[in-house]
Amino acid sequence: MIHPLPRYVLPDTAAVGRDGRLTVGGVDLLDLAEEHGTPVFVYDEAHLRARCREAVASFGDGVAYGSKAFLCLAMARLVHEEGMRVDVATGGELHVALAAGVPPERLVLHGNNKSLDELRRAHQLGVRVVVDSFDELARLERLHEEDGQPTKVMVRVTPGVEAHTHEYVMTGQTDSKFGLGVASGDAARAVEHAQIHPALDLVGVHAHIGSQIFLLRSFEKAVEILAGFVEPLDVEELCLGGGLGVPYVEGEEAPSITEWAAVLHAACAGAGITARVTVEPGRAIAAAAGLTLYRVGTIKDIPGVRTYVSVDGGMSDNPRPVLYGSGYETFLPRATLAERPRTVTVVGKHCESGDIVVRDAHVPADLAVGDVLCTPVTGAYGHSMASNYNKVPRPPVVFVAGGEARVVVRRETFDDLLRLDA
Ligand code: LLP
Repeated sequence: MIHPLPRYVLPDTAAVGRDGRLTVGGVDLLDLAEEHGTPVFVYDEAHLRARCREAVASFGDGVAYGSKAFLCLAMARLVHEEGMRVDVATGGELHVALAAGVPPERLVLHGNNKSLDELRRAHQLGVRVVVDSFDELARLERLHEEDGQPTKVMVRVTPGVEAHTHEYVMTGQTDSKFGLGVASGDAARAVEHAQIHPALDLVGVHAHIGSQIFLLRSFEKAVEILAGFVEPLDVEELCLGGGLGVPYVEGEEAPSITEWAAVLHAACAGAGITARVTVEPGRAIAAAAGLTLYRVGTIKDIPGVRTYVSVDGGMSDNPRPVLYGSGYETFLPRATLAERPRTVTVVGKHCESGDIVVRDAHVPADLAVGDVLCTPVTGAYGHSMASNYNKVPRPPVVFVAGGEARVVVRRETFDDLLRLDA
């Protein structure tokens, strides 16, 4: 089997030279690895901007970027420049977005356990809050008592839909820590409360059924269930969350943002929903724009068992294989379209047998120690879920565009590892 690399896992501006070397944004990835070291996250800026534009063109104003997928100052600025709102899920994400200069009225705060302090900052600045519990409603009332100002809110509801995705990223079902149930009547009680209480200025209803969803039918089902709930309320906005999947490996296929929008709009129109329909994609904006470059350090062949190829990162820069059993493609940017007849297991440098980057990785026959190895589609939930496990410094983030590479997050140093110690 030759397993050619599927083109759709590479960023938009990826180009392969006659020598087989890969450039993204006009920058040669091997040169970039040489200059910035490995591991390194590389993002195709044009790809990020194109996905933001597609989202704004498909959904209009109000569409937000789910910043948990990947957030730093440069990314917050980029999505804001492209006309997206920014969805933040914690006080920390809120802090980064504000530091980037995103105006508070372009932000929306999520979370199933927002603290009074997180809510106070949002409330005082005029950041919209997606209410997730009755306890939170009580906290917002307390803030109203402090200054007499209302908070703009949406109520997050769980429609009771089981999307086809990994159990850990399913959120629309009744048994969920997120949102208030439509079936139980909690959602209706929260909305009624928000409509009459002076502490709350209700702008809409929110539902997010899960992440990495390929089947648009799952979204349609959510709309069908929500229709009966939302229509009588006469709210301005119905936000259907994020969740659009992206292909990571050969054989996977996902709808585009444009196709997703068409299905959601048709479903809402068909169900008689007149509220403005918005979404907050994270993965569909960032995932395929990014890739990770590692360097191969050791190759250990255990005859008749498997070959372990160790790279200089691992579960600290990409915990998704360990957490969800996620798969990735692998290739060598020096021979991007080369045949990949060999199957190996790419592992990281952490002190755990579970530290797997790609379990069954297809690689060229001449893969050697010292090679730069690339896993594409690591732009979402890679850098954002990175850790310092084993005191491994986190990789830098480099944006490439127009033949230029710029570091937007620098590599952590060993001294950074000490900065919090007393
Ligand atoms: N809105 C809400 C309320 C969310 O909870 C999420 C993701 C999004 C939007 C963005 O979803 P996306 O478009 O990216 O699917 N760490 C997991 C994914 C967790 C998703 C959490 N919530 C992973 O690596 O697959």
